[in-house]
Amino acid sequence: MSGNGRLDGKVAIVTGAASGMGAAEARLFVDEGAHVVLTDLDDERGVALAETLGDRAEYRHHDVGDETHWAELVRHVDSTHGRVDVLVNNAGVARAGAIDEFSWDDFDLSVRVNQRGPLLGMRAVIEPMRRSGRGSIVNIASGAALQGERGLIVYSGTKFALRGMTQVAAAELASDGIRVNVVHPGCIDTPMHQQNPPEHQATLIGRIPLKRFGDPAEVATMVLFLASDESSYITGTDFAVDGGILL
Ligand SMILES: NC(=O)c1ccc[n+]([C@@H]2O[C@H](COP(=O)([O-])OP(=O)(O)OC[C@H]3O[C@@H](n4cnc5c(N)ncnc54)[C@H](O)[C@@H]3O)[C@@H](O)[C@H]2O)c1
Repeated sequence: MSGNGRLDGKVAIVTGAASGMGAAEARLFVDEGAHVVLTDLDDERGVALAETLGDRAEYRHHDVGDETHWAELVRHVDSTHGRVDVLVNNAGVARAGAIDEFSWDDFDLSVRVNQRGPLLGMRAVIEPMRRSGRGSIVNIASGAALQGERGLIVYSGTKFALRGMTQVAAAELASDGIRVNVVHPGCIDTPMHQQNPPEHQATLIGRIPLKRFGDPAEVATMVLFLASDESSYITGTDFAVDGGILL
Protein backbone atom coordinates (compact mmCIF):
# COMPACT_ATOMS: atom_id res chain seq x y z
CA MET A 1 0.00 0.00 0.00
CA SER A 2 1.54 3.29 -1.10
CA GLY A 3 -1.26 5.68 -0.09
CA ASN A 4 -2.18 7.24 3.25
CA GLY A 5 -4.67 4.65 4.49
CA ARG A 6 -7.63 6.94 3.84
CA LEU A 7 -9.89 3.89 3.29
CA ASP A 8 -8.18 1.51 5.69
CA GLY A 9 -10.34 -1.52 6.43
CA LYS A 10 -13.24 -0.41 4.24
CA VAL A 11 -14.96 -2.68 1.74
CA ALA A 12 -15.91 -1.00 -1.53
CA ILE A 13 -17.79 -1.99 -4.67
CA VAL A 14 -16.90 -0.10 -7.86
CA THR A 15 -19.07 -0.80 -10.93
CA GLY A 16 -17.78 -0.45 -14.47
CA ALA A 17 -14.29 -0.87 -13.01
CA ALA A 18 -12.65 -2.59 -15.98
CA SER A 19 -12.06 0.70 -17.80
CA GLY A 20 -11.60 4.45 -17.54
CA MET A 21 -12.61 6.19 -14.34
CA GLY A 22 -13.84 3.03 -12.61
CA ALA A 23 -10.41 1.45 -13.07
CA ALA A 24 -8.71 4.59 -11.68
CA GLU A 25 -11.05 4.61 -8.66
CA ALA A 26 -10.43 0.91 -7.96
CA ARG A 27 -6.66 1.43 -8.18
CA LEU A 28 -6.70 4.44 -5.85
CA PHE A 29 -9.04 2.76 -3.34
CA VAL A 30 -6.75 -0.29 -3.09
CA ASP A 31 -3.78 2.06 -2.66
CA GLU A 32 -5.62 3.76 0.20
CA GLY A 33 -6.23 0.51 2.09
CA ALA A 34 -9.68 -0.64 0.93
CA HIS A 35 -10.70 -4.09 -0.17
CA VAL A 36 -12.25 -3.42 -3.60
CA VAL A 37 -14.72 -5.53 -5.53
CA LEU A 38 -14.44 -4.48 -9.17
CA THR A 39 -17.45 -5.28 -11.31
CA ASP A 40 -18.08 -5.02 -15.05
CA LEU A 41 -19.32 -6.87 -18.13
CA ASP A 42 -15.83 -6.86 -19.64
CA ASP A 43 -14.43 -9.86 -17.79
CA GLU A 44 -11.12 -10.02 -19.62
CA ARG A 45 -10.08 -6.47 -18.70
CA GLY A 46 -11.67 -6.69 -15.24
CA VAL A 47 -9.81 -9.86 -14.28
CA ALA A 48 -6.53 -8.53 -15.68
CA LEU A 49 -6.84 -5.27 -13.72
CA ALA A 50 -7.81 -6.98 -10.47
CA GLU A 51 -4.76 -9.24 -10.78
CA THR A 52 -2.45 -6.25 -10.98
CA LEU A 53 -4.02 -4.76 -7.84
CA GLY A 54 -3.15 -7.66 -5.54
CA ASP A 55 -4.91 -9.44 -2.69
CA ARG A 56 -7.26 -6.62 -1.73
CA ALA A 57 -8.92 -6.57 -5.16
CA GLU A 58 -11.31 -9.05 -6.71
CA TYR A 59 -13.31 -8.98 -9.91
CA ARG A 60 -16.94 -10.11 -10.34
CA HIS A 61 -18.96 -10.28 -13.55
CA HIS A 62 -21.98 -8.02 -13.01
CA ASP A 63 -24.59 -6.34 -15.19
CA VAL A 64 -25.72 -3.25 -13.27
CA GLY A 65 -29.13 -3.35 -14.95
CA ASP A 66 -29.93 -6.80 -13.55
CA GLU A 67 -31.52 -6.98 -10.10
CA THR A 68 -30.50 -10.63 -9.60
CA HIS A 69 -26.88 -9.77 -10.29
CA TRP A 70 -27.02 -7.06 -7.60
CA ALA A 71 -28.52 -9.46 -5.05
CA GLU A 72 -25.81 -12.05 -5.76
CA LEU A 73 -23.02 -9.47 -5.67
CA VAL A 74 -24.04 -7.87 -2.38
CA ARG A 75 -24.70 -11.29 -0.79
CA HIS A 76 -21.20 -12.37 -1.83
CA VAL A 77 -19.48 -9.22 -0.54
CA ASP A 78 -21.44 -9.18 2.71
CA SER A 79 -20.90 -12.87 3.45
CA THR A 80 -17.17 -12.66 2.61
CA HIS A 81 -16.39 -9.42 4.43
CA GLY A 82 -19.34 -8.93 6.77
CA ARG A 83 -19.91 -5.40 5.49
CA VAL A 84 -20.25 -3.05 2.54
CA ASP A 85 -18.89 0.43 3.32
CA VAL A 86 -18.72 2.10 -0.08
CA LEU A 87 -20.59 1.79 -3.38
CA VAL A 88 -19.41 3.69 -6.44
CA ASN A 89 -22.09 3.60 -9.15
CA ASN A 90 -19.71 4.33 -12.00
CA ALA A 91 -20.79 2.06 -14.90
CA GLY A 92 -22.37 4.01 -17.71
CA VAL A 93 -22.99 4.15 -21.43
CA ALA A 94 -23.02 7.24 -23.66
CA ARG A 95 -25.33 7.33 -26.67
CA ALA A 96 -25.62 10.48 -28.76
CA GLY A 97 -28.51 11.60 -30.95
CA ALA A 98 -30.75 14.62 -31.39
CA ILE A 99 -34.33 14.62 -30.12
CA ASP A 100 -35.68 13.73 -33.56
CA GLU A 101 -32.95 11.19 -34.36
CA PHE A 102 -32.06 9.05 -31.34
CA SER A 103 -33.01 5.37 -31.34
CA TRP A 104 -35.30 3.82 -28.76
CA ASP A 105 -32.83 0.95 -28.39
CA ASP A 106 -30.25 3.52 -27.24
CA PHE A 107 -32.84 5.03 -24.92
CA ASP A 108 -33.69 1.65 -23.34
CA LEU A 109 -30.03 0.72 -22.91
CA SER A 110 -29.15 4.11 -21.42
CA VAL A 111 -31.99 4.07 -18.92
CA ARG A 112 -31.14 0.49 -17.98
CA VAL A 113 -27.43 1.15 -17.35
CA ASN A 114 -27.30 4.81 -16.27
CA GLN A 115 -30.53 5.09 -14.28
CA ARG A 116 -31.92 1.70 -13.29
CA GLY A 117 -28.37 0.42 -12.58
CA PRO A 118 -27.46 2.96 -9.87
CA LEU A 119 -30.96 2.77 -8.38
CA LEU A 120 -30.72 -1.01 -8.07
CA GLY A 121 -27.25 -0.57 -6.58
CA MET A 122 -28.35 1.97 -3.98
CA ARG A 123 -31.25 -0.26 -2.98
CA ALA A 124 -29.08 -3.38 -2.79
CA VAL A 125 -26.54 -1.93 -0.33
CA ILE A 126 -29.03 -0.34 2.07
CA GLU A 127 -29.37 -3.45 4.23
CA PRO A 128 -25.66 -4.02 5.00
CA MET A 129 -24.97 -0.30 5.34
CA ARG A 130 -27.96 0.18 7.63
CA ARG A 131 -26.75 -2.72 9.76
CA SER A 132 -23.37 -1.07 10.31
CA GLY A 133 -24.97 2.34 10.76
CA ARG A 134 -22.85 3.94 8.07
CA GLY A 135 -21.97 3.91 4.41
CA SER A 136 -21.05 6.12 1.48
CA ILE A 137 -22.60 5.89 -1.97
CA VAL A 138 -20.97 7.88 -4.77
CA ASN A 139 -22.91 8.19 -8.01
CA ILE A 140 -21.08 9.16 -11.19
CA ALA A 141 -23.31 11.37 -13.32
CA SER A 142 -21.89 13.96 -15.75
CA GLY A 143 -21.66 17.62 -16.66
CA ALA A 144 -24.64 16.62 -18.83
CA ALA A 145 -26.60 16.35 -15.56
CA LEU A 146 -25.95 20.02 -14.82
CA GLN A 147 -26.64 21.55 -18.22
CA GLY A 148 -28.43 20.21 -21.30
CA GLU A 149 -26.38 20.00 -24.47
CA ARG A 150 -27.48 19.47 -28.07
CA GLY A 151 -27.31 15.84 -29.19
CA LEU A 152 -27.40 14.37 -25.71
CA ILE A 153 -31.13 14.15 -25.02
CA VAL A 154 -30.98 10.51 -23.92
CA TYR A 155 -27.70 10.63 -21.99
CA SER A 156 -28.53 13.93 -20.31
CA GLY A 157 -31.97 12.65 -19.31
CA THR A 158 -30.52 9.62 -17.53
CA LYS A 159 -27.81 11.67 -15.82
CA PHE A 160 -30.25 14.36 -14.63
CA ALA A 161 -32.32 11.47 -13.25
CA LEU A 162 -29.30 10.12 -11.39
CA ARG A 163 -28.71 13.54 -9.88
CA GLY A 164 -32.32 13.67 -8.69
CA MET A 165 -32.20 10.13 -7.31
CA THR A 166 -29.04 11.04 -5.40
CA GLN A 167 -30.85 13.85 -3.59
CA VAL A 168 -33.86 11.67 -2.73
CA ALA A 169 -31.68 8.77 -1.54
CA ALA A 170 -29.53 11.14 0.54
CA ALA A 171 -32.62 12.54 2.24
CA GLU A 172 -34.16 9.13 2.90
CA LEU A 173 -30.98 7.36 4.07
CA ALA A 174 -29.31 10.05 6.17
CA SER A 175 -30.93 8.81 9.38
CA ASP A 176 -29.25 5.43 8.77
CA GLY A 177 -25.81 7.08 8.56
CA ILE A 178 -25.69 6.47 4.80
CA ARG A 179 -24.35 9.37 2.74
CA VAL A 180 -25.10 9.71 -0.98
CA ASN A 181 -23.32 12.19 -3.25
CA VAL A 182 -22.92 12.68 -6.98
CA VAL A 183 -19.84 13.52 -9.03
CA HIS A 184 -20.09 15.23 -12.41
CA PRO A 185 -17.04 14.57 -14.58
CA GLY A 186 -16.48 16.91 -17.51
CA CYS A 187 -14.45 15.68 -20.50
CA ILE A 188 -12.26 12.94 -19.07
CA ASP A 189 -9.78 11.07 -21.22
CA THR A 190 -11.23 7.53 -21.17
CA PRO A 191 -12.31 5.03 -23.85
CA MET A 192 -15.85 6.50 -23.65
CA HIS A 193 -14.58 10.00 -24.34
CA GLN A 194 -12.22 8.80 -27.08
CA GLN A 195 -15.29 7.71 -29.12
CA ASN A 196 -15.82 11.39 -29.97
CA PRO A 197 -14.56 12.31 -33.47
CA PRO A 198 -11.28 14.33 -33.47
CA GLU A 199 -12.97 17.53 -34.72
CA HIS A 200 -15.45 17.36 -31.81
CA GLN A 201 -12.57 16.83 -29.35
CA ALA A 202 -10.89 20.01 -30.61
CA THR A 203 -14.13 22.00 -30.14
CA LEU A 204 -14.49 20.64 -26.62
CA ILE A 205 -10.94 21.60 -25.61
CA GLY A 206 -11.67 25.12 -26.81
CA ARG A 207 -14.61 25.32 -24.36
CA ILE A 208 -12.65 24.15 -21.31
CA PRO A 209 -11.07 27.01 -19.30
CA LEU A 210 -8.23 24.72 -18.12
CA LYS A 211 -7.60 23.90 -21.82
CA ARG A 212 -7.22 20.14 -21.50
CA PHE A 213 -9.22 16.98 -20.89
CA GLY A 214 -9.20 15.56 -17.38
CA ASP A 215 -7.31 12.47 -16.34
CA PRO A 216 -9.37 9.63 -14.78
CA ALA A 217 -7.13 9.89 -11.69
CA GLU A 218 -8.33 13.49 -11.16
CA VAL A 219 -11.91 12.24 -10.81
CA ALA A 220 -10.82 9.32 -8.65
CA THR A 221 -9.38 11.68 -6.00
CA MET A 222 -12.80 13.35 -5.64
CA VAL A 223 -14.52 9.97 -5.40
CA LEU A 224 -11.96 8.91 -2.77
CA PHE A 225 -12.75 11.99 -0.68
CA LEU A 226 -16.49 11.25 -0.82
CA ALA A 227 -15.96 7.55 -0.06
CA SER A 228 -13.76 8.30 2.95
CA ASP A 229 -14.70 9.58 6.40
CA GLU A 230 -13.10 12.93 5.48
CA SER A 231 -16.46 13.85 3.92
CA SER A 232 -18.47 12.67 6.94
CA TYR A 233 -20.68 15.79 7.03
CA ILE A 234 -21.43 15.87 3.30
CA THR A 235 -24.49 14.27 1.72
CA GLY A 236 -26.84 14.97 -1.19
CA THR A 237 -24.31 17.24 -2.86
CA ASP A 238 -23.05 17.73 -6.43
CA PHE A 239 -19.31 17.82 -7.20
CA ALA A 240 -18.17 18.86 -10.67
CA VAL A 241 -14.69 17.79 -11.83
CA ASP A 242 -14.66 19.47 -15.22
CA GLY A 243 -11.84 21.98 -15.75
CA GLY A 244 -14.40 24.77 -15.40
CA ILE A 245 -16.35 23.91 -18.57
CA LEU A 246 -19.57 25.45 -17.24
CA LEU A 247 -17.94 28.83 -16.50
N1 LIG B 1 -15.37 10.07 -20.00
C1 LIG B 1 -16.07 11.16 -19.84
O1 LIG B 1 -15.72 12.21 -20.40
C2 LIG B 1 -17.30 11.18 -18.96
C3 LIG B 1 -17.88 12.43 -18.71
C4 LIG B 1 -18.97 12.49 -17.85
C5 LIG B 1 -19.44 11.35 -17.24
N2 LIG B 1 -18.87 10.14 -17.51
C6 LIG B 1 -19.42 8.97 -16.79
O2 LIG B 1 -18.39 8.36 -16.04
C7 LIG B 1 -18.64 6.96 -15.91
C8 LIG B 1 -17.40 6.17 -16.35
O3 LIG B 1 -17.18 6.47 -17.72
P1 LIG B 1 -15.79 6.21 -18.46
O4 LIG B 1 -15.54 7.41 -19.26
O5 LIG B 1 -14.76 5.70 -17.52
O6 LIG B 1 -16.29 5.08 -19.49
P2 LIG B 1 -15.67 3.70 -20.01
O7 LIG B 1 -16.48 3.37 -21.21
O8 LIG B 1 -14.20 3.77 -20.11
O9 LIG B 1 -16.05 2.69 -18.82
C9 LIG B 1 -17.36 2.34 -18.54
C10 LIG B 1 -17.38 0.90 -18.04
O10 LIG B 1 -18.75 0.55 -17.73
C11 LIG B 1 -18.93 -0.80 -18.16
N3 LIG B 1 -20.35 -1.09 -18.34
C12 LIG B 1 -21.16 -0.68 -19.36
N4 LIG B 1 -22.39 -1.21 -19.22
C13 LIG B 1 -22.36 -1.96 -18.07
C14 LIG B 1 -23.32 -2.75 -17.39
N5 LIG B 1 -24.56 -2.91 -17.87
N6 LIG B 1 -22.95 -3.37 -16.25
C15 LIG B 1 -21.69 -3.24 -15.77
N7 LIG B 1 -20.73 -2.52 -16.38
C16 LIG B 1 -21.07 -1.88 -17.52
C17 LIG B 1 -18.14 -0.91 -19.45
O11 LIG B 1 -17.88 -2.27 -19.79
C18 LIG B 1 -16.90 -0.11 -19.11
O12 LIG B 1 -15.88 -0.94 -18.57
C19 LIG B 1 -19.88 6.68 -16.74
O13 LIG B 1 -21.02 6.64 -15.90
C20 LIG B 1 -19.96 7.88 -17.67
O14 LIG B 1 -21.29 8.14 -18.11
C21 LIG B 1 -17.83 10.04 -18.37
